[in-house]
Parts: sequence; C-alpha cells; structure tokens
Amino acid sequence: MNSDMRMTLTQFLIEERRRYPQAGGDFNSLLLNVALVCKRIARKVAAGELGDATGSASSVNVQGEDQKKLDVISNELFIEGNNWGGYLAGMASEEMEEPYQIPACYPQGRYLLVFDPLDGSSNIDVNVTVGSIFSVLRAPASDRPVTTADFLQPGCEQVAGGYAIYGPTTMLMLTVGNGVHGFTLCPQVGEFMLTHSDLQIPVDTHEFAINASNSRFWEAPVTRYVNECMAGKTGARGKDFNMRWIASMVAEAHRILMRGGVFLYPRDSKDPTKAGRLRLLYEANPIGFLMEQAGGRASTGRQPVMNVKPSALHQRIGLIFGSKNEVERLERYHNEPEQNDEPNPLFNERSLFRAPA
Ligand code: F6P
Repeated sequence: MNSDMRMTLTQFLIEERRRYPQAGGDFNSLLLNVALVCKRIARKVAAGELGDATGSASSVNVQGEDQKKLDVISNELFIEGNNWGGYLAGMASEEMEEPYQIPACYPQGRYLLVFDPLDGSSNIDVNVTVGSIFSVLRAPASDRPVTTADFLQPGCEQVAGGYAIYGPTTMLMLTVGNGVHGFTLCPQVGEFMLTHSDLQIPVDTHEFAINASNSRFWEAPVTRYVNECMAGKTGARGKDFNMRWIASMVAEAHRILMRGGVFLYPRDSKDPTKAGRLRLLYEANPIGFLMEQAGGRASTGRQPVMNVKPSALHQRIGLIFGSKNEVERLERYHNEPEQNDEPNPLFNERSLFRAPA
C-alpha cells in the first residue's frame, strides 16, 4: 500500500481517543509533540558528520557516562518540544539529574514525560542504529512543583510507552495500552504512517542477545540459559540458536518486536553498586510495556519488570525481555535451586571462549 492510502499517527490517535469520550486532547497533543521531537532528532542523526553534531560534548551525565553532542541536543529538543504544551507537570531524562519543572509561564498539565533522548548513543559515530525511548505517567493532581517521588511509579502505571528508531527508516513504535502499533516516517510527507498494526511477538525463538563479555559476572541461571543455547541441537534445548548484540537496546527491542528473540542485560556482579546496566524508568519500563502489549514478556528474572516499585529516578535494573516462552524459562531458572552439574560449552576446549589454564 502506498503512503497516501495509509493512516497517519494523528488519525490513529484521534480514532483511539474516540474510545474514551471523556478524554480531552492533552494526551494526543503530548504524543504528537513527542513524535515531532523524534522527527527532529531523526534529521540530526541522519545528517551524521555533515550535521556538525557528532562527537563528544566533553561532559558526563548523572550516570557518569560521556555525553555525545547529540545526547545533549536530543535532550534539549525533548524539553523545548514539550515544556510549553500545557499537558505536562514535569519531565525526567537520562541526561538530567533532577526532574525538569515546567516553567511558570506555561500551564501545568496532568502528565509526566520520562525519556532517554538518545539510547545507544555510543553507536552514533559509527553510523549504527540508535533511538529515543519515552514513557508517559500520570502526574499527581496538584499544582505544586513536581518532585522525584512523583516519578517513582511502577511500570504498570504507564499510560503510554514507546520509542523512535533511527535506522535505515525512522519508525515510531507506540503503545497506549491497546496493543503495539508501528509507524514509519514517510520522508516525502513528513508524517508517521501506520505500517505495523497490533504487533505480536512469536512466543518461541532461536535468537538471543547478550553482551557475552560479561559472562564471568553472570548469575548461575543466566549462565545456565546461555550455555544451553550455545549447546544448540546437542544440548538440553535440542535446537540451534543464533546470538546477536548491537549494544543499542532500541535496535535489539525492535528486532525482537518484529521477529521474536530474547534480550538479556541481567543483574550481575560486575559492579556491586549497580543492580543492572539499564535504567528502570526510561529504558526498562517503556520497553517492558511494549513487549507485554505485543504478547511478549519483560522481567528482572525474578519478577515482571513493570511490577518493580522504583526507588530512585535513575535506578538501574536487570532486564530480560522478548519471546514469552524464553523469558518464562529464564524466570523458572531464577526460581529453581542452582544446578552445578551442567557442562559449560561457553568455556569448553573447543568453544568460543577458552577456559583459563
Ligand atoms: O543505555 C544503555 C545501552 O547503550 C543500551 O542501549 C545497550 O543495550 C547497552 O547500553 C550496551 O551496553 P554494553 O556497552 O555493556 O554492551
């Protein structure tokens, strides 16, 4: 179907809103402005070296990570694109230590916007797919300035979650709690067009994604799972698996939404001060919401990630998501007593990683 015949994001949101006659237009304005910001970021990312925005910003964010110029620019685009609309009471971002207060010159709204403006940004300089992740929560019903505590809501309280992916095509993947829908940016019209309705993740898969360089820090259930996948047809699983690692979670999440798979950035012992690598509020929760809405599952290994009550704005968490049967298997492994009698194909004589002598 050519793009002239397709439903735009605007039309989709208006039709969704008709199902809630009491709804005002604020929620849709918010999502449409987020989409506009993502289009702007897509242009900056696509310009690459020609856009004079690649490279380091010579600063570090609250997580102690080097900020890229595009991290800073994308954060500003999110703020400037959403602070004036009257639908938000505050924002929180990976790039800002404290919540952002809506300036007094603008009305306060009923929603909170939480985002990672440019996920996977270490990939920008090498022209690999990156994305923006966002989550929408309800704001407390009061006109006082927002506090960190207002944002510490479990993922199951989200009213929208999604990401934009800046790859060969720019896409916006969105859930408002009624399935997952994918919109492809039409470069001619400049609109997101509905191209993927009601996505469903296959419950089984033969693809897993994990940063195997962390294997010595993994917990036993994760080592067991990966070893079983690596053993392929000859092991407990009786089938061969493929391994993938892009180091850009949006790109991995997108592949999984499209064709299934399982992603693991589990809790490990690499840095005992951190409970995981990924951030709960603006990475794990919106991706978890999308996964669950597409029939997949998102978990810490021990519980559904969206049930976790956050304790800090930039809290990190172990995250496993994707095809339902694989994530449930991993949860089972986490809940079973440890097994030490498994062969370890990751470190066998003839394996990819040799055991130390
Ligand atoms: O924000 C975190 C992130 O860039 C994710 O997009 C990605 O999955 C992960 O970090 C990559 O981590 P590592 O560098 O350890 O592979």
